Amino acid sequence: MALEEISTSGQRESMSDVLQKCAPGSQGDDPAPSRSALDAEAVKVAYRRWAAVYDTVFGGVSAFGRRKAVEAVNSLSGTKVLEVGVGTGLALPHYTKNKQITGIDLSGDMLARARERVQREQLSNVEALLEMDAEETCFDDASFDIAVAMFVASVVPHPRKLFRELKRVVKPGGHILFVNHFLAPSGVRGVVERGMARASRSLGWHPDFAMESLLPPEDIARARIQSVPPVGLFTLVTLDNI
Ligand SMILES: C[S@@+](CC[C@H](N)C(=O)[O-])C[C@H]1O[C@@H](n2cnc3c(N)ncnc32)[C@H](O)[C@@H]1O
Repeated sequence: MALEEISTSGQRESMSDVLQKCAPGSQGDDPAPSRSALDAEAVKVAYRRWAAVYDTVFGGVSAFGRRKAVEAVNSLSGTKVLEVGVGTGLALPHYTKNKQITGIDLSGDMLARARERVQREQLSNVEALLEMDAEETCFDDASFDIAVAMFVASVVPHPRKLFRELKRVVKPGGHILFVNHFLAPSGVRGVVERGMARASRSLGWHPDFAMESLLPPEDIARARIQSVPPVGLFTLVTLDNI
């Protein structure tokens, strides 16, 4: 839930009218969260620690996936883009200037870095950076042409709820993209990832995250699923919103 809205120009704006539109939702028939599911507070604590070193530690290894997702966004029609879990804003400089970006994140510490980047690099097409829960945003239905979540789906407590929310805020015929690491179904990598899952809370993400936790089978069946080179550790998933 957003507590405040801070525009990229640094100005505080009242969100009270927008906040009144936000009502708690239900988890419906989602798969049960894993034992070590991250709640919003755990996400904030984890990313408070990560914020200062995130770009150095994670920026390099994730760069290919991020660039591939942004290239995909840039190639799609539509200008209004929602980037959820925008983090320190590593993707922001790579959008074409005709895309108008709204970024949201739960972590004020990560957002502070993103705001610095926007000012430093004068990214005039970044319209707003907002502290907001991607599972339960304050946006009206069909507010965006495209929503993109990069390395976020395995961090939120209820991934199916995230997906439903993105479907709601993206126009019918628009596009939803995820780039993420998904659990290897078998082999040594799968065993290692399941073992690492015990450290989810301190890592701030779920190494054992399965695509089925995010998307219902019918959406997996219709999604465009592309492995991201060079090592194929990450996967880009693109869905048309119906
Ligand atoms: C692994 S980082 C990815 C950051 C960025 N997308 C990137 O590519 O570097 C995950 C981000 O998701 C944010 N996040 C986690 N849960 C969230 C939620 N429910 N709503 C909004 N942001 C969330 C975290 O605060 C963190 O900044």
